[in-house]
Amino acid sequence: MCGIVGYIGKKRAVDVILKGLSYLEYRGYDSAGIALISDNTAHIYKAPGKLSNLKEILSLEKEENINANIGIGHTRWATHGLPTEINAHPHHCNCGSLTIVHNGIIENYKDLKPDLEKKGCKFLSQTDTEVAAHLIAHEFADTKDLLKAVQNAVKKLKGAYAFCVTHKSMPDRIIAARKNAPLIIGVGEGENFIASDIPAIIEYTKKAIYLSDNQVAEIKTDSIKIYDENDNLIANKVENLPFEPIALSKMGYKHFMLKEIHEQPDVVRNILIDKIKSEDLAVVLDDVKLSKEELTKINRIQIIACGTSLHAGLVGKYIFEELTGIPVDVEASSEYIYRNTIADKNTLVIGISQSGETADTITAIKQAKEKNSHILIITNRKDSAMARLADSLLPINAGIEVSVAATKSYMAQLLSLYLLAIYTAENIGAKENNLVKEIKKELLTLPSKLETILNDTKNIENIAKKYSSFKNFIFIARGINYPTALEGALKLKEISYINATGYPAGELKHGPIAMLDETMPVLAVLNKGIVYDKVLSNCEEAKARQAKLIGVTNFIDEKHKNLFDDTVIIPEIPDIVSPALNIVVLQLLAYHISEYLGKDVDQPRNLAKSVTVE
Ligand code: AGP
Repeated sequence: MCGIVGYIGKKRAVDVILKGLSYLEYRGYDSAGIALISDNTAHIYKAPGKLSNLKEILSLEKEENINANIGIGHTRWATHGLPTEINAHPHHCNCGSLTIVHNGIIENYKDLKPDLEKKGCKFLSQTDTEVAAHLIAHEFADTKDLLKAVQNAVKKLKGAYAFCVTHKSMPDRIIAARKNAPLIIGVGEGENFIASDIPAIIEYTKKAIYLSDNQVAEIKTDSIKIYDENDNLIANKVENLPFEPIALSKMGYKHFMLKEIHEQPDVVRNILIDKIKSEDLAVVLDDVKLSKEELTKINRIQIIACGTSLHAGLVGKYIFEELTGIPVDVEASSEYIYRNTIADKNTLVIGISQSGETADTITAIKQAKEKNSHILIITNRKDSAMARLADSLLPINAGIEVSVAATKSYMAQLLSLYLLAIYTAENIGAKENNLVKEIKKELLTLPSKLETILNDTKNIENIAKKYSSFKNFIFIARGINYPTALEGALKLKEISYINATGYPAGELKHGPIAMLDETMPVLAVLNKGIVYDKVLSNCEEAKARQAKLIGVTNFIDEKHKNLFDDTVIIPEIPDIVSPALNIVVLQLLAYHISEYLGKDVDQPRNLAKSVTVE
């Protein structure tokens, strides 16, 4: 969602900020803006659309106006008001002295606005953020101290925010504040940085302070002071940032999504190292902070997540129930919250999130925490807000994922769930059987099977081209691959904007079959296993309605050879591990359709990589 970059130091702030914002483009945005302070004047530039529009405006500006050493920038993902220039950040007070960039939603902005209007504030935009600009400006008029003004103002704000504020009369400082939205302060020498996420600043520094909720920071060229919610100065906790700038390169691939799809064999290898040494040895998972005795007492598991992470959770349900016999509920975080969920100290609550910053999941986890359940977080960002809420933290270590469409993080989430389920089964003695062994053996061979698919994608590319003009798609599967159908459909719709829906294959005849004709391709995922014949029958039913059929399978016998219009044959794999292989075909199919249609693969419209508002 919105991206924030702030800079104070000796460099040209505009360069650092624009570059930083470009590294945050993956978060999703629809307008951009920057405020620079030079000669005791705040110069504000904003543009709807891509960052290139803002750069264009800046290129026409007089050098003396933009040659500043302090500034704040923003990419906006619209929540309140259209993505227009007027609604773009930075926002400012009426005299233009105070500027603010904000990520989050100020929920009580409508309550605060009338009072500010009575005091003479004129509102120009439809945003919630502008209320904060006026509120802080009023506090500043009273205190003449920007830090104090922000500290006073945040006590009146409700909702979520990460923001940076400057004042033209104090060009030696930026004030930053955070509550339920990410913000880090990059620590430099003779310069400091502020950003929503690491990529914006990693080129300049590998040291950062993660601002916590309700903290306010005063950032100058050579000092950073952090204050808690009671305005007490607290000690700085400087941490090393977890990755190198190279992680942000496409490494010769046309898009980050394609690069990330191809990274999956290594992601799997990386996650298995030291955890599964051989099929005969128990899984080692030091990150699980539950004793054997505590694990044995777990009588219920709840998995909460959103989007792709939710689909990983649905696969997790099948694995856990099969291996441990413990009942598992999987729920979208946004549905889990604001009702009386049933959980207690014997419930294991698993939160799954690539970013670790998804607001719905954070709220759900906080709700579960109140029930004294053990909170286990599976995330790609061990520096995230969600990671900080964990009793047990399982980092998936997939490396930074830049493409908005999640691919390698899904793979790593699946792997983490396999490991966790096996670990639980082995510790509670639920299954001392061949299935656990077989899964371990198969996981160890997964990287090479993934490579078999990735090394020859011509057939998938041809199918993508052939079907790219269809406006609708249905994905079907059963059992453990039903979530694969959901995830395949999500991938296709988010990057190609084609209407795609995943169904349990057996549900087709209960309604969706009415939509079938030659204009509605049906993609079926069918693995040799318990539901194979059933899915084949469902495919026959679809064929009988003239639907074009694509089969993704590891087995096709002579008599069904002509059933499918197109097939993708994947390597042999047992049903229970097959979601980790099948999904790669669907990722590639979605990628090539989107690429063929000329869509913005890595930054699809309206979407954000970290969804930091509820
Ligand atoms: C995935 O392709 C999507 N961009 C989206 O559904 C995503 O999975 C969802 O927003 C959850 O994000 P998280 O994993 O960072 O919590």
